[in-house]
Amino acid sequence: MKNKPIDKFKCSWLESNPKFTKNSLLIKNYQVMQKWEDDYMKELASVVTLKGGDVLEVGFGLGISAGYIQNSRRVHRHTIIEAHPQVVKYAISLFNKQLRSGRMNILQGFWEDILLYFKDKQFDGILFDTSPITKEKLFFHYFPFFKEAHRLLKKGEIGV
Ligand SMILES: C[S@@+](CC[C@H](N)C(=O)[O-])C[C@H]1O[C@@H](n2cnc3c(N)ncnc32)[C@H](O)[C@@H]1O
Repeated sequence: MKNKPIDKFKCSWLESNPKFTKNSLLIKNYQVMQKWEDDYMKELASVVTLKGGDVLEVGFGLGISAGYIQNSRRVHRHTIIEAHPQVVKYAISLFNKQLRSGRMNILQGFWEDILLYFKDKQFDGILFDTSPITKEKLFFHYFPFFKEAHRLLKKGEIGV
């Protein structure tokens, strides 16, 4: 199946230089992630790893939740989808060992384009934490994901 052509705004977002500071990640001067969210990420990771198995994470950010998911021994495979190429680079620098061992996989792209390659009922847990890339999508960017989460989660499993 062909992916949709990429729009201008997405292009300039992808070409922008994210700013990684000690406590935050900014993309196009927009606060995407902050270190103070650590406890919240820990909580989300503890819920999404309850059943172990195959976990999908959408949006890498600073990799805080990714680190907690990796800490769970119950998880066999942890797949991450991240759209921004420089955030992917950052992820590779942080989790080189886990990526080499295959305990973590990272797919570069927008989830809207990548999810169609996944089978139904593939995951035991899904953590969705992306940031809107336009102001218009501020409160709605996650709505279309619900249907996909329902398709991808094994029956009765966990999405946060
Ligand atoms: C809030 S951060 C994720 C924070 C992460 N949970 C952590 O603990 O650091 C959101 C991430 O989603 C990515 N993102 C935004 N839109 C996306 C999309 N449509 N598909 C995949 N990744 C996306 C951003 O580049 C950013 O890295």
